Amino acid sequence: MDFEKIRSDFPLLSRFTYLDTASSGAISRQVHKSIVDFIDKWLYEGEDWDRVIKDVVEARRIFSSMVGVKGDEVALVPNTSTGLIAAVSSVKWRNESNIVLAEHNFPTNFNVFSSAVRNGLVKEVRVARYIDGRIPIEEYEKLIDENTQIVSVDLVGWLTGYREDLKTITKLAHERGAIVLSDIFHAAGALPLNLRDLDVDIAVCGSYKWLLAPSGAALLYVKKELLDTVLTNCWTGWIGVEDSVVERMINGETRLFERPLPLLYSRPSSSASRYEWGSWAGLTVVGLTESLRFFQKLDMNLSWRRIQKLSSKLVDELVEKDFQIFSPLDEDRRSGIVSLVLRNSYDVAEILSRSKIIVSARPGILRISVDFYNDEEDIEMITQKLQELSKK
Ligand SMILES: Cc1ncc(COP(=O)(O)O)c(C=O)c1O
Repeated sequence: MDFEKIRSDFPLLSRFTYLDTASSGAISRQVHKSIVDFIDKWLYEGEDWDRVIKDVVEARRIFSSMVGVKGDEVALVPNTSTGLIAAVSSVKWRNESNIVLAEHNFPTNFNVFSSAVRNGLVKEVRVARYIDGRIPIEEYEKLIDENTQIVSVDLVGWLTGYREDLKTITKLAHERGAIVLSDIFHAAGALPLNLRDLDVDIAVCGSYKWLLAPSGAALLYVKKELLDTVLTNCWTGWIGVEDSVVERMINGETRLFERPLPLLYSRPSSSASRYEWGSWAGLTVVGLTESLRFFQKLDMNLSWRRIQKLSSKLVDELVEKDFQIFSPLDEDRRSGIVSLVLRNSYDVAEILSRSKIIVSARPGILRISVDFYNDEEDIEMITQKLQELSKK
């Protein structure tokens, strides 16, 4: 795999030391071109709507094979939060239900479930906490009981970069009758994933970080077996129903609107498409599908090894320079996100950006993210600059 050649396809990387994929991924020339071609055609010939639908189907297909699930288990939704809410709102709640969350989850993952409590659907939300830099499995053992309906754990923490051992958690949750939901936004595109193997029930990943595409889309995985058992309270729009225009296109029909669309007695699609309620952001879909085609060709084992090597180098150099690392130090828990404890993180991020080094500041921490398109020089740049600043 020629990473130098890959780097040259991302012009941002030659102008900046870009270490902020956890906020927003760089886009490639190919992704840019696909969007420009689409909009140019639109300008002179009108919108190629059929192309958008074909790309939606293609994006679902490629993503599903990237994460080891079936094509009809993936829906393309407008963003991560919408995907989470769509899936959670379809749960058939039992009485006295509780939810177990991981402390490192993104706020959506707290807010969705506090809404469920506020709306009287769920009795209680419980949070599994870190102890000495890890959330021990005993924490989950203590919290998950026969009334737990969902265990929601982000695969990689958005601030800590903590990579969770999801397989052990799904086993425990399933034994106790709960399903497992995971936000995989900081994992898909960065590390090889097999959701079937992890036995996760619902997962969602946005387009604009490690999938290196524009914002305005997310991929929602829902295990097929759950659609007509645990997730029966679903809402549908005009797309995610049986005999929708998308199903008609997949079935080879060309006159998509020739027959009337399903109305009063429509039935939810038997696939995850039931969570696709309405039209898509065409420009995003075209760009995302192009980026997924790139990932289809990428050797994810190799790119993940490169991320691991670069983030280890970053951690080692920062530890040597006496910085306090907020992210886990154990290799088996690390990801592409390396955060430092830094009281004045906003000031530091601003100073770094003036030197064309892009990272992000969050309360009390500086988050540095390392993707496969970064290189050793990027790591040297940031560590050197941080050391200079710490001496001032
Ligand atoms: C882990 C995680 N989930 C969800 C989100 C929000 O995603 P969206 O804006 O697509 O809803 C973010 C944004 O930073 C995130 O880091």
